[in-house]
Amino acid sequence: MFPRDFAWGAGTAAYQIEGGWQADGKGPSIWDTFSHEKGRVFGDQNGDVACNSYELWEKDLECIQQLGLTHYRLSVSWARLLPDGTTRHVNQKGVQYYSKVIDDLLACNVSPMVTLYHFDLPQALQNEGGWTSPGIAAHFDNYAKFCFQAFGDRVKLWITINEPQVCAKLGHEDGIHAPGLKEKGTAAYLAGHNMLRAHAMAWSSYDSVYRPKQKGAVSLAINSDWFEPLHPGSGEDMKAAERDLAFTMGWFAWPVFVTGDYPEIMRSAVDAQSEKLKYSGPPRLPTFSEDEPAILGTADFFALNYYTSRKVESGGGRGEGLCMKSDRDAEEVLDPSWPVCGVSWLAVVPHGLRKLLKYIKDTFNNPAVYVTENGFSQVGPPQIEDVQRCEFYKDTILEVGKAIEEDGVDVRGYFAWSLMDNFEWADGFSVRFGLFHVDFSDAKLTRTVYRSGREYAKIISRYKSAPCKGEQLAIRD
Ligand code: BGC
Repeated sequence: MFPRDFAWGAGTAAYQIEGGWQADGKGPSIWDTFSHEKGRVFGDQNGDVACNSYELWEKDLECIQQLGLTHYRLSVSWARLLPDGTTRHVNQKGVQYYSKVIDDLLACNVSPMVTLYHFDLPQALQNEGGWTSPGIAAHFDNYAKFCFQAFGDRVKLWITINEPQVCAKLGHEDGIHAPGLKEKGTAAYLAGHNMLRAHAMAWSSYDSVYRPKQKGAVSLAINSDWFEPLHPGSGEDMKAAERDLAFTMGWFAWPVFVTGDYPEIMRSAVDAQSEKLKYSGPPRLPTFSEDEPAILGTADFFALNYYTSRKVESGGGRGEGLCMKSDRDAEEVLDPSWPVCGVSWLAVVPHGLRKLLKYIKDTFNNPAVYVTENGFSQVGPPQIEDVQRCEFYKDTILEVGKAIEEDGVDVRGYFAWSLMDNFEWADGFSVRFGLFHVDFSDAKLTRTVYRSGREYAKIISRYKSAPCKGEQLAIRD
């Protein structure tokens, strides 16, 4: 039983689908730079063309309609709208492109959920230090205000930043995402801190200036695995699982939903390592200034990206020097009973989503929740009859249903990742998450529905036409 107005969606991100990397005055982003460097992406592939949604948007819209989605989550490219990242120069062609996308969606009765930042910082701002520079927060706020002004009359669901944890860690600690930094144990915390400041400023701008008229809702998309102790009886493993949750979800959710500051478990773990390793630089996990918009309370709903689960035991990264892994001091392992799909990190654990949703309800004061990403990957020769992915979606949506019905979690929507196969970051086009297959070897980039797409469409139509709980009761009365 899903609520009548439940959002049934699918998502994409600008750099992963649009192509048109230099079209009509778009500025370069850090992913343009990064993917053009040798050895960064599988097969040295890049998103120059990707699904060419910049030119083939109408084809995407056909896919959206074929699925019967009520919502579509897309991201807008900062550098397409503001080529040097600032409002000094506005690319009107970019504004027109997104305006048309939004208008077309609404004309088809599909509500847009728009992400302002999905990993693609304008290169011009990276040249000024990117997310590690404090000034980035004001730049982001200006960009957000520009978007609220341009599209907020029609867009009612906003995500400021997608997966700040991934962006901070993979881009600044591991160096496997743009901008490719490997400043272990420092830069990721700084980048994450500035993302929280940027998010809070943008939310506050929306709240004070735009919300009264536009009446929308704004949040940030927080990714997390579900973590549980490897040995449930072990106190050490239980603490390690708690630390892992604190370093992924808590890092961003705690300041926004609970205290306005980082989880205590995280701060004490980072401080203890700094002391142990005789680190003498500036505090690695910064503090928030009283003179800036408060971080606490800056989300109108909880946006969760969930993909997988991990068992955790204590003791990870020991002897590796200053790095996030040694701060976390947790080793993550896969339960052998969990099937792995496509990529090695993606164990299929639908029930982990239900557990995480319950955890969110209990820990963050029962917020309204949207599952803004969840999906299943495929590698090797394309299989249009993707039976396993069908099962995955059925099982996962059942778990979401149980979270609503049995655990009382206020889940308002579910967005499958992704509408169609696309540029999967460092994996290029070798990993496919789509509900539609895209033939990248064909200049037309033909979109073909997977069996899982048909299955998802069936699920959506079944729930859209089913009477909701309240209505059934009313009939009986
Ligand atoms: C990102 C998507 C990505 C997906 C699958 C998420 O981390 O937001 O852009 O394609 O995971 O890896």
